[in-house]
Amino acid sequence: MSPLNIVILAAGKGTRMYSNKPKVLHALAGKPMVQHVLDRAKDMAAEQICVVYGHGGDAVPQAMAQYQAQFVIQEPQLGTGHAVQQAMPHLKDDSLSMVLYGDVPLIQLDSLQRMRTAGNGLVLLTVNLPNPTGYGRIVRDAQGMVTSIVEEKDATPELRKIQEVNTGILLAPTKLLRGWLANLNNNNSQGEYYLTDIVAMAVAQGVAVHTVQPANTWEVDGINSKSQLVVLERTWQMVEAQRLLTQGVTLADPARIDVRGTLSCGRDVEIDVGCIFEGKVELADNVRVGAYTVIRNASIAQGTQIAPYSHIDSSTVGANCHIGPYARLRPGSQLHDDAHVGNFVEIKNSEIGKGSKANHLSYIGDSTVGSRVNIGAGTITCNYDGANKFRTIIEDDAFIGSDTQLVAPVRVGKGATIGAGSTITKDAPDGELTLSRSKQITINGWKRPVKKK
Ligand code: UD1
Ligand code: CA
Repeated sequence: MSPLNIVILAAGKGTRMYSNKPKVLHALAGKPMVQHVLDRAKDMAAEQICVVYGHGGDAVPQAMAQYQAQFVIQEPQLGTGHAVQQAMPHLKDDSLSMVLYGDVPLIQLDSLQRMRTAGNGLVLLTVNLPNPTGYGRIVRDAQGMVTSIVEEKDATPELRKIQEVNTGILLAPTKLLRGWLANLNNNNSQGEYYLTDIVAMAVAQGVAVHTVQPANTWEVDGINSKSQLVVLERTWQMVEAQRLLTQGVTLADPARIDVRGTLSCGRDVEIDVGCIFEGKVELADNVRVGAYTVIRNASIAQGTQIAPYSHIDSSTVGANCHIGPYARLRPGSQLHDDAHVGNFVEIKNSEIGKGSKANHLSYIGDSTVGSRVNIGAGTITCNYDGANKFRTIIEDDAFIGSDTQLVAPVRVGKGATIGAGSTITKDAPDGELTLSRSKQITINGWKRPVKKK
């Protein structure tokens, strides 16, 4: 098979977004629209990817710099055919070229792959719409062969009745495409160079024109406004929710879950309402996620229970842990099996050993906590002196009394006990009770002040 080149048109202004940001950088499912398209281009193993952009200075090339793509500016914008012309110097004659759109974010791999195997010649992705208003119509002859695409504004009332429309997505041998584009003119009602005019040219040359239809019409929905964006966002979230349900995940409400990335779930996973999953999230068997929890780039091992309103970011959680409600695991947290992290506990860049517990109101940062450690309510690791960060080490079976401050760098030995209310600035030895606390005194006969009359 010939190598594939992909052109992504992304030069449209996006006037109806009423935003200073280029349209294609607005996010769908947590990711800029054009990035969805770039990811599909990557999935297609495109040998060359060329993004045609037009507005917002270098915002598009900068935001998408991690992709191996050519960024070509189209200025001024004289139509879709003119846009593809800008990419031609970067495409190779022995390749096939596919045209995608930065504002048509949800095109699926399966549809693109079916285009690639549809036959030699020009391949158009088309859909049948009950209301085709605004789209280019696919015109066929008596034998059902495609003869041309006619834009709405150039179409007769008769042609406007055609319900099969052009999605804009197409595939053509690059060498042929180059020739057709060189012959475009702008003699039409909009004075634009129409990419769609290549269809009649192909037909005139006897090049076969094939059509493929996407499995779902939402795959070819283009976005021009925030209201179209949110409709497509909800459509996509419902698709994701149905995928999870089909796999056996229990969702309290498929309309109240948002997946902004990839969520993979084991068996008998339960997810309550209002949860958000960002980046790559893995939930193993029997994990339960409580309401309004946000999890991003994390893996949660089997049997772990997450109570409502918890936040987990860039962390790994072992099996059978209890988290929350209102717990926060910041990046670099690692909980081993059977750990408990309770309400208003914040953990950052720390390891919490097997069976250890921090159940209430604590901050554990830059710490290594062993197994079976009990961290009392209100314990705080003071890891930062205003300039540098230091580690706290708490060894196995230690018991940290409530309201303790551990001033790092500091080590609490194996089986050590720290008395409640202590400020620990020096290492506490194994197995002993260490505390720092001013002596309690009683003032005998002291009287409370009374209000002056
Ligand atoms: C185009 C098609 C039409 C199709 C419709 C599907 C043409 C002539 N018409 O019409 O058959 O049914 O899309 O939505 O191709 N763009 C550029 N540079 C330009 C012009 C457009 O990059 O100079 C990009 C836009 O950002 C957009 C896409 O091309 O992503 C389509 O442009 P638009 O003006 O919306 O084309 P339509 O008139 O809707
Ligand atoms: Ca359009």
